[in-house]
Amino acid sequence: MPRKIAAGNWKMHGDGAALAEIDALIAAHPDPGVGIVICPPATLIHRMAERVGNAPIALGGQSCHAARSGAHTGDISAAMLADAGASHVILGHSERRIDHGETDAVILAQTQSARGAGLSVILCVGETAAQRDAGMTLDVVTRQVMGCLPDDIDPSALIMAYEPVWAIGTGRVPDGDQIAQVHGAIRALLLSRLGLAGGQVPILYGGSVKPDNAATIFAIADVDGALVGGAALKAASFSQIITALQSA
Ligand code: PGA
Repeated sequence: MPRKIAAGNWKMHGDGAALAEIDALIAAHPDPGVGIVICPPATLIHRMAERVGNAPIALGGQSCHAARSGAHTGDISAAMLADAGASHVILGHSERRIDHGETDAVILAQTQSARGAGLSVILCVGETAAQRDAGMTLDVVTRQVMGCLPDDIDPSALIMAYEPVWAIGTGRVPDGDQIAQVHGAIRALLLSRLGLAGGQVPILYGGSVKPDNAATIFAIADVDGALVGGAALKAASFSQIITALQSA
């Protein structure tokens, strides 16, 4: 996968009718030159994989259980996501941390399980508004990066996503200096943790990325792409974000 990546997180949106969006995306970007990942609800992964075929769009899950199988009603394992056609999985999203009480330790175990199943990991980190106001942003992000990354993570199977919780779904976006500061800190952590290979790990920004702000965000230092929620649900808007990334 190229270093520049546009990833779409569909969250709990989309049914069979939404597969038409994938057809439109494939038609619009037959040879994108940037990485495209769509993370639909798990119910759509298999059908979406059939639609994607050999087109250059990767599919991902939105979370996974740490165990390979077992008595965990309602959960899905990394191996099951891979079996359905996923090559990636989002882990550590703030909606999982908040709604499902997923701690750094849980996310670390999920990351190990995902790697064991051969999935690449999109690892999300980010502060709440209260943490930013208290001047704790870099402490929080550092703790999350250090706590969620296994020592033996393969850097080529890792994508980082900085998603300030207060920017998700709110239309509020940090300014360029704020994004550059956190992305620079994540880059430094990756280099110290993973050595030179840490310099190659893509760092995506996520939180209210839209067609009209994408180019500005992609011009910020250490921003390698975006993890997009709402604007990834429709091919028309996600396509504009992909185009902005291609020319960044
Ligand atoms: P948003 O979501 O683009 O709708 O703000 C981003 C995310 O949660 O990944």
